[in-house]
Amino acid sequence: MSILETINLIKQFKQYDTVVTAVNRVNLQVEPGEFIAIIGSSGSGKSTLLRIMAGLDRADSGSITILGEDLTKMKPDALNAFRGQHLGFVFQNHNLIPGLTALENILVPTIMCNKISIRYEEHMKKLIKALDIGDRLHHLPSELSGGQQQRVAIARALINRPQILFADEPTGNLDGATAGEVLDLLLSVKELIGQTLIVVTHDLTIADRADKVYQMHNGELYLYKDQSGYRKNSYEENLKRMSGQK
Ligand SMILES: Nc1ncnc2c1ncn2[C@@H]1O[C@H](COP(=O)(O)OP(=O)(O)OP(=O)(O)O)[C@@H](O)[C@H]1O
Ligand SMILES: [Mg+2]
Repeated sequence: MSILETINLIKQFKQYDTVVTAVNRVNLQVEPGEFIAIIGSSGSGKSTLLRIMAGLDRADSGSITILGEDLTKMKPDALNAFRGQHLGFVFQNHNLIPGLTALENILVPTIMCNKISIRYEEHMKKLIKALDIGDRLHHLPSELSGGQQQRVAIARALINRPQILFADEPTGNLDGATAGEVLDLLLSVKELIGQTLIVVTHDLTIADRADKVYQMHNGELYLYKDQSGYRKNSYEENLKRMSGQK
């Protein structure tokens, strides 16, 4: 069974008299443990889709089923609780709380949603080691480098052992070498925890390492690459076919 499935997901934004269809009839199935990358040009709807799938925003229509539960049918409190239990999110700008140390930031989700099944101390030690942030734990975010801040944000997103980690351009604000390091750490933690990973990225080195790559265009989602290689029904191939038909 898929861990995540969307059916005909639609999200529109109305601004004055124009309507933008940011997510247009998206059907996506993600299997447990998969690493999915979503690429696409600016404004194509990637962040909107990710936020909706992660329960941070609501769709206009369609359904999102995660672990057998339809998020679109949940009341706000139930959705918040579900997110805390099962989902993690890493933002492009890390969104760490400036007045808290790295360690305190990492622990915030454990206070908001205490999962008694987790032995936090042990899990945290593993995360800190895997993400190589042991010597920065008592510093404020402003005292950390960009790569360190993002590693702390990843640890925070994973402290509750979510089954799915969503990340929106997690290396978008980092230079090439630091981005590579953060990605390596993210993937080694994925190995450790075995969670499903869904990453929005402009970075093709991330996409190269994903099990499947989807491309967004004008709110629509196309399969771009899977285990058998690059797909003919990707957006570009569709375009070529359409222009060849004219
Ligand atoms: N809160 C909002 N209100 C109005 N329009 C919005 C809102 N959020 C997104 N949009 C519009 O929806 C479309 C998709 O935006 P989205 O942020 O999902 O794109 P994106 O693919 O993540 O782009 P980028 O690569 O630049 O981050 C854009 O046209 C954007 O202007
Ligand atoms: Mg975006």
